[in-house]
Amino acid sequence: MRALCWVAADELAVRQVPDPELRNERDVIVRVRRSATCGGDLPLLAGPDPLLRTGDVLGAEFLGEVVEVGPAVRRHRVGDRVVVGASVACGGCWYCRQGLHSCCDNGSADPASTDPGWGRLDAGCFGRPRAAGGFAGGHAEYVRVPYADVGAFQVPDAVDDERALFAADAAPAGWLAAELGAVRPGDVVAIWGAGAVGQLTAQAAVLRGAARVLVVDRYEERLRMAERHSGAEPLDYRRTDIAAELRDRSGGRGPDVCVLAVGTPPARSAIDRFGGRTAERPDALREAVHSCRKSGVVVVLGGADEFVDAFPLGAVTDRRLTLRGARRPDLRDVPMLLDRMARDELRTEHLATHRLPLEHGPQGYALFRDRADGCVRAVFTP
Ligand SMILES: NC(=O)c1ccc[n+]([C@@H]2O[C@H](COP(=O)([O-])OP(=O)(O)OC[C@H]3O[C@@H](n4cnc5c(N)ncnc54)[C@H](O)[C@@H]3O)[C@@H](O)[C@H]2O)c1
Ligand SMILES: [Zn+2]
Repeated sequence: MRALCWVAADELAVRQVPDPELRNERDVIVRVRRSATCGGDLPLLAGPDPLLRTGDVLGAEFLGEVVEVGPAVRRHRVGDRVVVGASVACGGCWYCRQGLHSCCDNGSADPASTDPGWGRLDAGCFGRPRAAGGFAGGHAEYVRVPYADVGAFQVPDAVDDERALFAADAAPAGWLAAELGAVRPGDVVAIWGAGAVGQLTAQAAVLRGAARVLVVDRYEERLRMAERHSGAEPLDYRRTDIAAELRDRSGGRGPDVCVLAVGTPPARSAIDRFGGRTAERPDALREAVHSCRKSGVVVVLGGADEFVDAFPLGAVTDRRLTLRGARRPDLRDVPMLLDRMARDELRTEHLATHRLPLEHGPQGYALFRDRADGCVRAVFTP
């Protein structure tokens, strides 16, 4: 089959790779209909990553049709249209039983590899390095989906592919951010990053009753899109004193909840590791900690690899802040998000700004990486 593979730092190519096969009785094989780029892919592209190997297939977010079913699979039949959650989780371990699929003890096939950086392993993930299990991703004609009863979800007929696709990763990530922030009716929520994840965090905050949602970024098109589709108030950090503006718009206190959805590695150590690339603006974390109201919550999503220096720990303790993080979403919210999509409460298709054949994968990633031509997500069709 054809697949979009990582070849070397800043080099992707569509290559011929072996078709996936059922390996375990709980696997299904999915024929991909759509797959999307994700901010979490960008540090990988830049390389060098000792855990990515030439020929690894990228793509954490995808949707398709079941074409083969393992003997122990109960919930899926050949022909089902399914969206596949980005996290790979067993469904049976202590964490999975609490609904914490992103912490699954059995999702990664190479647990020891994350210990030096993260202390402990987390779940597996499609289209990520061996540290996340080494599962081939969705930028391909076919994907093997392990634990399919846990991670694949039937898409309601009322939801088309372009909308349902984002129930794999970006929508559950946004929902999780709002949940970790414990967003309540009347809250003021500030979000750094107007990519797909930031915008869907904004929608989740509105659905949970937030009174005001403010989104911080530098890209005009993204800010305008967040305003139009998520009811967020845009703030361009190139022209605005963000901390002062956030205080003004929250009765002088600061936002109740601050979410970082900025992508790209903010830490010096990560910048070194990713080949000397600088983060787009490395001080977002400090800005969020300093802006948040006393006793508020700061949520950090993904991306913040490794170690962050000069972290304002004093502000966290003095001002009684809660700091929460998540690298990838759980699976438990996917059916609820698909229901909301079917009821038209949650719309995501506008995020698919660029629709391309899989053959144009390298160009799609270049557009996405450079935020060129208003690209928020490149969506590929094999
Ligand atoms: N925890 C999860 O469940 C989960 C799931 C998917 C993605 N993620 C993470 O969420 C993050 C966002 O993903 P995405 O796909 O929307 O990324 P993206 O790369 O498309 O967008 C990131 C946005 O952040 C903006 N940004 C960068 N620095 C900023 C700063 N200092 N202030 C304000 N804005 C800034 C960029 O301009 C860009 O628009 C990534 O780190 C990704 O790894 C987390
Ligand atoms: Zn598990």
